[in-house]
Amino acid sequence: MLNKIGVIGGGNIGGVLVQLLAERAYAKNVALVDVKGPDFAKGKVLDIAEGTAVIRTDVQVAGSKEYDVLDGADMIINTAGVPRAARPDGTLPSREELLTTNLKITDAVSAGIKKYCPEATVISIANPLDAIVYRLHQNLGLSRNKLMGMAGVLDSARYRYFIAQEAGVSVENIDAMVLGGHGDSMIPVRSACRIAGMPVEQFVSPEKLDAIEARTRKAGGEVVKLLGSGSAFVSPAQSALEMAEAIIYDKKKIIPVSALLEGEYGVNGLFIGVPALLGKNGIEKVIEMDLTDAEKEMFKNSAAAVQKTVDEVKAVNL
Ligand code: APR
Repeated sequence: MLNKIGVIGGGNIGGVLVQLLAERAYAKNVALVDVKGPDFAKGKVLDIAEGTAVIRTDVQVAGSKEYDVLDGADMIINTAGVPRAARPDGTLPSREELLTTNLKITDAVSAGIKKYCPEATVISIANPLDAIVYRLHQNLGLSRNKLMGMAGVLDSARYRYFIAQEAGVSVENIDAMVLGGHGDSMIPVRSACRIAGMPVEQFVSPEKLDAIEARTRKAGGEVVKLLGSGSAFVSPAQSALEMAEAIIYDKKKIIPVSALLEGEYGVNGLFIGVPALLGKNGIEKVIEMDLTDAEKEMFKNSAAAVQKTVDEVKAVNL
């Protein structure tokens, strides 16, 4: 159990996070900062705090629009940022539009972390995922084990769910990884996908797998369109906590995270989704996975797509 976990941004994802953190008691204290309104964060946590008597937990939750509420946090989960929302004509905004707004927010987030909890391990969820984590890296200068982005857990969960539905088996039977950038170029690694230890192709046809993998790449947008406003928020919160739990309980669990690569997979200096071993020191190891030639090519293309957005980040000085 940690002493304190801080959540930055108390909107859809942040709200579920604080609720789950109170239920799961990963830390004695949970602190939420959100700049919205005079007292939004206070209201959000009061609601959750009052429920602690019902769920019988003594986890203390505090909320504020000031970053000092994060003072001394051991771990930070960052959700501050504007989500994608479908326009009235059904189209989605460009990533660039999201990027500029969310970079400004990320700079404010970085200043808060630097001032109040510079030693914290940081898990970031805000989009565009790999670029925002890169900005945090630029601003915070944390060692690579202490800063990571959440995307692969969610993308893999979506892939696993779709396969389970198609194969008519439990999701618990599906082992799969989605690697690469958190965007259309992500790579559902079919060669490593197993159903109860057996190759996925034994249960699902190549054509169906093609369709499932295409759906996985666009799964975030599918939810955005259906919701009409905002983006997915329950599964992203659950996914970030899969990472947090592996670290807090020193599980040495291999899960896909957006990590700073230092030559692995032929990539240097970019955050991109790869399998990593998570334990008490955060990212304890980046695992190099055997990929087919086609998957290697897809990884290269995905790294190029992430590089393009990171170049935009480098060009934006707010
Ligand atoms: N500091 C703290 N909180 C902030 C800041 C800031 N500088 N700027 C904005 N926020 C808060 C907003 O007030 C809002 O309550 O972040 C919250 C974001 O919540 P939502 O708009 O509900 O967005 P959510 O669905 O939670 O997604 C957050 O994660 O998956 C990504 O694309 C998504 O970038 C988005 C982020």
